[in-house]
Amino acid sequence: MRKTIRLFAILGVMGVMSCGDEKKEQEKITIGDDNRLETISTERETVSDTSPAADSIQKEEGVVEVELTVNDQMEFNLQEIRVKEGQRVRLILKHAGQLPENAMGHNFVLLQQGTDLAGFAGQAAGARENDYIPPATDKVIAHTELIGGGEQTSIEFEAPPAGTYDFICSFPGHYIQMQGKFIVE
Ligand code: CO
Repeated sequence: MRKTIRLFAILGVMGVMSCGDEKKEQEKITIGDDNRLETISTERETVSDTSPAADSIQKEEGVVEVELTVNDQMEFNLQEIRVKEGQRVRLILKHAGQLPENAMGHNFVLLQQGTDLAGFAGQAAGARENDYIPPATDKVIAHTELIGGGEQTSIEFEAPPAGTYDFICSFPGHYIQMQGKFIVE
C-alpha cells in the first residue's frame, strides 16, 4: 500500500513536470544539463521498480519471476499478481521483518477458485505441524513453506487456467489482512 502511494506521488511529480515544463525540460536536455538528466533517469528507475509490470519479470523463456515481500506488520507488498496462462512462475517469498516464524510466520498459498477463505484458514490453523497447510487438501494449487523474519524461500509452478484466484498467508489469523488476487490472463 505504502509503495503504491509513493508511486502515485512520483507519477504526480512527473506529470506536473511534463505538462507545465515540457518545453523547458526539452531545452535543458538539448543543452545537456547533466544534473537534470541524472535526476530524470533516477526517477524513472524508481518508477519502474515499483510499477505493477515490474512485479513479474520475464527471466528466461517461459519462466516469469515474481518477488513477494512480507514483513512484521502482516503485509504482502503486492495485492495483485498477474501472469499468463500456462506460464511457469517462479515465486520468491522474502520476509523483510525480524520476528521469528512461530510469532510472525508467513507463507504464500494459492487457492483453487471458489475456496471459502475463512473455512480454509480455519482448517489451516489446525495444521501447525504441516506449515499450516491442511494435509490432503484439494484447495491448494501451490504454496511455499512457512518462513520467519530475514528468511527467503521460493517455489516454481505452472500458472493455472485463466481466471482470478486468491492467495493468502495461512498462518493463524493472517489471511484477513494477508490476501491478494492472483490473476491469470
Ligand atoms: Co503470515
